[in-house]
Amino acid sequence: MTDSANPIREIGVALLGLGNVGAGVIKLLEENAAAIEARLGARLNVRAIAVRAFDKRRRVEVDASLLTTDIEGTLARPDVDIVCELIGGTTDARTAVMTAIAHGRHVVTANKALLAEHGREVFAAAEAAGVDVYYEAAVCGGVPIIRVLREGLASDRVEHIHGIVNGTSNYILSTMTATGRGFADVLAEAQALGYAEADPTLDVGGGDAAHKLAVLVGLCFGTAVDVHAISTEGIDTVEPIDFRSAERFGYVVKGLVIARDHGHAIEARVHPTLVPKNWLLADVPGAKNALYVHSYALGASMYYGAGAGMLPTAMAVVSDMIEISRNMLARAAGARAMARPFAQGQRPLLPLDDIRSRYYLRLAVVDEAGVLGRIMTILGSHGISIAQVVQDESAAADGAATTHIFVITHEAREGNLRSALREIDGLPVVQRPTVVLRIAGAGNNGNAGKQ
Ligand SMILES: NC(=O)c1ccc[n+]([C@@H]2O[C@H](COP(=O)([O-])OP(=O)(O)OC[C@H]3O[C@@H](n4cnc5c(N)ncnc54)[C@H](OP(=O)(O)O)[C@@H]3O)[C@@H](O)[C@H]2O)c1
Repeated sequence: MTDSANPIREIGVALLGLGNVGAGVIKLLEENAAAIEARLGARLNVRAIAVRAFDKRRRVEVDASLLTTDIEGTLARPDVDIVCELIGGTTDARTAVMTAIAHGRHVVTANKALLAEHGREVFAAAEAAGVDVYYEAAVCGGVPIIRVLREGLASDRVEHIHGIVNGTSNYILSTMTATGRGFADVLAEAQALGYAEADPTLDVGGGDAAHKLAVLVGLCFGTAVDVHAISTEGIDTVEPIDFRSAERFGYVVKGLVIARDHGHAIEARVHPTLVPKNWLLADVPGAKNALYVHSYALGASMYYGAGAGMLPTAMAVVSDMIEISRNMLARAAGARAMARPFAQGQRPLLPLDDIRSRYYLRLAVVDEAGVLGRIMTILGSHGISIAQVVQDESAAADGAATTHIFVITHEAREGNLRSALREIDGLPVVQRPTVVLRIAGAGNNGNAGKQ
């Protein structure tokens, strides 16, 4: 309850974008207005909503007088304290965020592409201008992983992370695992159900996950990395036969982001991965996201939930607005240098050849005596030792003359494996380039990835 002598403080908000997330933000601000006001002791007041087109059908009803196509004018409004960038991409969004900061506005963004590509520039400008930039929704949607890493683990030291950060890919892989259907078929279904975009390249090709990984690396290890240099493999190359054989060896195929601090360099990679069935990550279903964090003091911890969607993502965005408002009310806004990612400059990525992993190999070979022996000899000569081998004639793909050999290796250096495979794939008896999938859980700390 307020009285006229002591009116409740209003905090002005401008939304840039009224698409999926923007509509969710409006809905949540309306539906939870009383609770937010009670928790904050102030009112979040939407003063303007910038869009591209006035006449578009919206997922929420808004007062038409709030809509504008004038982003510049919106950012310059003196009654706007917090600018919420929900347009996406790295061009207009970058200009809008940099302009907002230059005007002294605090910023909330859900845009991982922007932060992965231009994060250092954005955070440096924010620090110089004394404003806050919050971005909880940029990684794992509604799962409050940014707060966990920034605040919950502020006294700890993250050693490595394994995560499922793209819901579309996880939906497709989970469905392929459950049904044995092929990638193209399941992708078409995911598009029909609204789990995948019409152009799914960023999701299934791993680009979206690489953006999120760059943001996570910034927070976990305090360093920027070149997002374009992150080794990124999509899920579109995994075939039903690999799901079946992974299952037989005790694994589930998941699209993972993996990062590890090596001190002089950062290991960061995105690829389909064989995850041991007894890991919690193996059980992450449908479009859900999860991040497994291994830190020095806490050890293993795991964070799980909805990584996208109108309301889960809006929840993260509005919570960021509340946090900034609290900072403003406490006159602490912009004074949170410790909260900045990328604080220690840029470190190089560990070359992919230098990572260590266990590997799953699928070789398509001519079915004749001595082939297995020759392959094992080449692997051995490159220092690759074998944990399991299965030769499966029933899996023959090209008629009776071809058979598949499935190999699970012990931990090995990737460069050695690639040298061995160059030799192996050059043998006349090897019919196609060998399929290679990495297995989660290897690394150079003894308990890496155990859950
Ligand atoms: N969707 C999710 O579940 C999710 C989850 C996590 C993070 N995110 C991130 O959240 C951001 C927004 O995603 P979304 O799914 O809400 O996108 P969206 O549905 O495509 O909405 C984008 C909105 O931005 C507006 N817009 C685009 N360019 C503009 C410009 N130059 N000037 C003014 N308005 C412009 C569009 O206006 P019109 O409507 O007039 O075209 C639209 O309202 C992205 O960075 C995305 O990566 C989304």
